[in-house]
Amino acid sequence: MEQEINWLDRISSTAEYIRKRVGEMPRTAIILGTGLGDLVNHISVKMALPYEEIPHFPVSTVEGHKGQLIFGRLGDKYVMAMQGRFHYYEGYSMKESTFPVRVMKELGIKMLFVSNAAGGMNPEFKVGDLMMITDHVNLFPEHPLRGKNYPELGERFPAMNEAYSKRLIAKAREIARDHNIRLMEGVYVGTQGPTFETPAEYRFFYRLGGDAVGMSTIPEVIVARHGGMEVFGMSVITDLGGEDIAPDVSHEEVQQAATKAQPIMTFIMKELINRCAE
Ligand code: HPA
Repeated sequence: MEQEINWLDRISSTAEYIRKRVGEMPRTAIILGTGLGDLVNHISVKMALPYEEIPHFPVSTVEGHKGQLIFGRLGDKYVMAMQGRFHYYEGYSMKESTFPVRVMKELGIKMLFVSNAAGGMNPEFKVGDLMMITDHVNLFPEHPLRGKNYPELGERFPAMNEAYSKRLIAKAREIARDHNIRLMEGVYVGTQGPTFETPAEYRFFYRLGGDAVGMSTIPEVIVARHGGMEVFGMSVITDLGGEDIAPDVSHEEVQQAATKAQPIMTFIMKELINRCAE
């Protein structure tokens, strides 16, 4: 068995460092995944902590990605935002890639908002659509809760019957209705990547019950739920696979589609946080 790192000590020393530097802590956190990068421009920043300065924090491997924790006001809500996340496909272990979410819980975060890019499999979806995540299928090869369970962090066998908050989903539906926004809903299938799917894999994931497929989010959501946070997730549909089609998709196309959908994604998240966050 792997030598167990004492995660409790690491989490508390990281949290202590952040508290000392920042002072008062928010109750709401946002992981600025694809489609939400621009949300940072709506935050009036009180403090930004580069990941390199935070003890025990992983460091982003993706070039040109600024990795930092941001604290500030979004509308009238005080929030913390992760600019840059740690994907499993980059080589981090599950424990490393979800470490920031553990620290969030230790800091007193109660609600987590997260976004990603995903391939759409539901035949009603179009490129550029937004999909609220109502549920997920976890196909990652390693589980973030595998190994010693610390009761201080959560229970050994947590339920996942409401991984994504029904209350927040209902609110987001209301926002979309009020503003005439096309907002899809569905099941997110999470795979390790970094390859996009083969035609047979898109077909398989669709038949399995998936509406969209991507390479992130599920580990962080599991850890957030383990820690009792309320979670809301949204995908930008950047390409379309499914029963009879498989895209010849590239990272550039994904980025382009996400950039286009970004203003609406940002609007919904901001509005949702303003209506629901503490
Ligand atoms: N598959 C997996 N991850 C993705 C996709 C996809 O088609 N599009 C964006 N992220």
